Amino acid sequence: TSSLIVAGTGLGWAEAPSDALDPSTLTPFVDPLPIPRVLTPSGKRANPEHHGEQLPFYRVSMREISQKVHRDLPATRMWSFEDSFPGPTLEVQSGQGAIVEWANALPIRHFLPIDHTLHGAEKSVPEVRSVIHLHGGRTPPDSDGYPENWVVPGKSQNCFYPAKQDAALLFYHDHTMGINRLNIYAGMQGLFIVRDPLEASLNLPSGKYEIPMLICDRMLRKDGQLSYPVSEHPDRPWVPEVFGNAMLVNGKLLPYHEVEPRKYRLRIMNGSNARFYRFSLENKKPLSVIGDDQGLLSAPVTVQKIPLAPAERTDLVVDFSDMAGTHVKLISDSFDILEFRVSAKAAGDASPLPSTLRPPLRLDPATAVTTRRLTLDERMDDIQRSMGMLLNNTPWHMPITEKPTLGTTEIWELVNLTDDSHPIHLHLVRFQILDRRRFDQFEYQTKGTLRYTGAAIPPESHEAGWKDTVRADPAMVTRIIIPFEGYAGRYVWHCHILEHEDNEMMRPFEVLAAPEKA
Ligand code: C2O
Ligand code: CU
Ligand code: CU
Repeated sequence: TSSLIVAGTGLGWAEAPSDALDPSTLTPFVDPLPIPRVLTPSGKRANPEHHGEQLPFYRVSMREISQKVHRDLPATRMWSFEDSFPGPTLEVQSGQGAIVEWANALPIRHFLPIDHTLHGAEKSVPEVRSVIHLHGGRTPPDSDGYPENWVVPGKSQNCFYPAKQDAALLFYHDHTMGINRLNIYAGMQGLFIVRDPLEASLNLPSGKYEIPMLICDRMLRKDGQLSYPVSEHPDRPWVPEVFGNAMLVNGKLLPYHEVEPRKYRLRIMNGSNARFYRFSLENKKPLSVIGDDQGLLSAPVTVQKIPLAPAERTDLVVDFSDMAGTHVKLISDSFDILEFRVSAKAAGDASPLPSTLRPPLRLDPATAVTTRRLTLDERMDDIQRSMGMLLNNTPWHMPITEKPTLGTTEIWELVNLTDDSHPIHLHLVRFQILDRRRFDQFEYQTKGTLRYTGAAIPPESHEAGWKDTVRADPAMVTRIIIPFEGYAGRYVWHCHILEHEDNEMMRPFEVLAAPEKA
């Protein structure tokens, strides 16, 4: 299956700028890996769900910053949260949650080119808008960052994150309708960690032995500035996937990190607009996968390479104890990502990896009340005369068609009719992958004719836990099973290739309140 995970390799329909930086001309591994600081609350606020209870309160500003991504480059202009890219990490206890005030203190004009927004009619409003979403959060609808709920510079929004969910690495990011590919490319993302007692009981590497990494690719100019391509193609006023050759880890290009010869926990999130990675250690040593998007797997899985689509997360335990005194690179296929420098001194390792992480749970397809057959499409828009990517062949503004009931379980069959892999993400929920299956015939009119040509392939073992983003490969039907838990209300699901999402591979869905029992 690994041959299918690369959605694209070049720049799509755009050319690299003539002043593009070639990162291989820089001295690699001269900057230490930054670890985003964990934000401390600035106060308390009342819990809207529990009268009399107080929650930690954070105020986070979105700002223009300038940050050095490499020793030998001038500082890069970015948009981020507080004073760094990635923004500070928020850390909460499961079930306790937090209230965050997201304050838009950005400039009035974007510094990246806006060649196309979804809603031409909105051209009269300021170009800079923002609304923040907590990816993977079980969040009430009015705090979830609905793409049309954006605010302009000078305004803020209060969001309530109850975090009634298992320990997991989540992340927050801009979600503004039509321009979130630009806002996120500019730097508007950060990590959000949920902790719980089960995870704490496992004695996993923690403190400085737990390393969060937000990894993303960017195209830089020789002066260190971000470059985002503008399409020159008449039928497609936007670039369908944006790739760069500068791999940033926590905002640094080719950093190094000093480690002791012992076990470490690496929590990696793919923050790229469009790039799919396949991480491994250059010395081919094994990686133990202990978790995916929504927390721990039931048991560790040993792999040599770990694929990661945009917005997916992986939780790895790497044992450096037999690499003492060496330098070992984290790579993704032909790209260097980071260099680990393993110290020579032997260190006691107090963290044996448990063989069971959490009780196994496979959802039974028979518990699903509905199966929805939903297509991933690429088509020519006759009105805008431009190419569009769609979900269920339906543009964003059409009435909501997916209305699951709170407390029920559904199966969604994602029928990929395009030539690309798409990382499909649903807000609010966590789900499991049932299987992927090849097909060669599909009838749009009835949606009934679907001819399978292959056997159902179960999820790979490293993605067999709870997920919130799933890779849907071309010419395959990907089936997921989703319990709709938490809140009723309006949410979105979309492709997490940000150029697709903005153009307009995103649809609302509405969770209906469960009918009152008589
Ligand atoms: Cu990462 Cu709609 O989200
Ligand atoms: Cu999300
Ligand atoms: Cu897509």
